[in-house]
Amino acid sequence: MRVEPSHLRPESAEYLERPNAERIRYIQSPHWIGYPRGKEILGKLEELLNYPKSHRMPNLLIVGDTNNGKSMLVQRFCQMHPPDDTPKRDAATVPVLWVESQPVPDEARFYNAILELLFVPHKPTERADRKQFQAVKLMKAVGLRMLIIDEIHNLLAGSMAKQRIFLNVIKYLGNTLEIPIVGVGTREAFRAIQTDPQLSNRFEQTVLGRWTNNEDFLRLLATFERLLPLRNASNLVENALADTVYAMSEGYIGEISKVLVKAAVAAVETGQERIDRRLLGQIDWVPPSARRRELAV
Ligand SMILES: Nc1ncnc2c1ncn2[C@@H]1O[C@H](COP(=O)(O)OP(=O)(O)OP(=O)(O)O)[C@@H](O)[C@H]1O
Ligand SMILES: [Mg+2]
Repeated sequence: MRVEPSHLRPESAEYLERPNAERIRYIQSPHWIGYPRGKEILGKLEELLNYPKSHRMPNLLIVGDTNNGKSMLVQRFCQMHPPDDTPKRDAATVPVLWVESQPVPDEARFYNAILELLFVPHKPTERADRKQFQAVKLMKAVGLRMLIIDEIHNLLAGSMAKQRIFLNVIKYLGNTLEIPIVGVGTREAFRAIQTDPQLSNRFEQTVLGRWTNNEDFLRLLATFERLLPLRNASNLVENALADTVYAMSEGYIGEISKVLVKAAVAAVETGQERIDRRLLGQIDWVPPSARRRELAV
């Protein structure tokens, strides 16, 4: 009988039997970890999805720093509400659509992205208003109940005139489809939406903030530890280790994940099989604020 190591979840423990290369690939692949703030926002999204249709739907703007789990959170929500294309239905239904906006605010490209997500052939050169018509028709046909626009600040960047166009696009889509629009982006997006009184009173803002070094953070570390298939327990929740990971990551979940993944890979490669402070000191790491400073000069 195999004894499961108690510091790992069963699925991760299985990887201890696999070759190192496979174990490293598993360490590096994305894994979803639930956390209280994330669950709260998922709850808000669920509430919005079930909101009765009206010509005045509430919208939500999820605002946060970069690399802090915004996209992963909305993608998780999409996975919870996958498209249904069982043959007994006439057409596929798509309850939630996640669109990532391009770095340039361009209406035609925005609709192209929607049409592509819905697998509709389209002429890239067609006028924006034709594409809008086609995209709206399709979103209705698939029974869309929520449109999530990630990197929404991209749409609301540029000149005031460009901003106006997209503020109107968002308003138009919400009114025509009678569905909630969820924007995901930086504080710039929030400022842009504030310039339109009609939109600003339809958008509730929720912030996905940086982590603080508290109980929730320790719980997150403990979950990461159960996920990373190392032979020995690292006890990441120990004060000194947790403080080191916190200082290195500066509280962004993407950075926490990156520090731990790098350290876990090093732990496998060196045969040390646990993460400790010495190992954390040895990995190639520049904290995010220093990285930004380097870019600024
Ligand atoms: N719930 C989670 N569980 C585990 N890892 C996570 C979770 N959320 C985020 N991460 C890690 O953080 C990284 C960054 O997350 P994500 O891409 O969602 O950030 P973001 O806020 O959308 O960043 P950006 O503003 O740059 O688009 C992910 O690639 C993943 O490694
Ligand atoms: Mg993102």
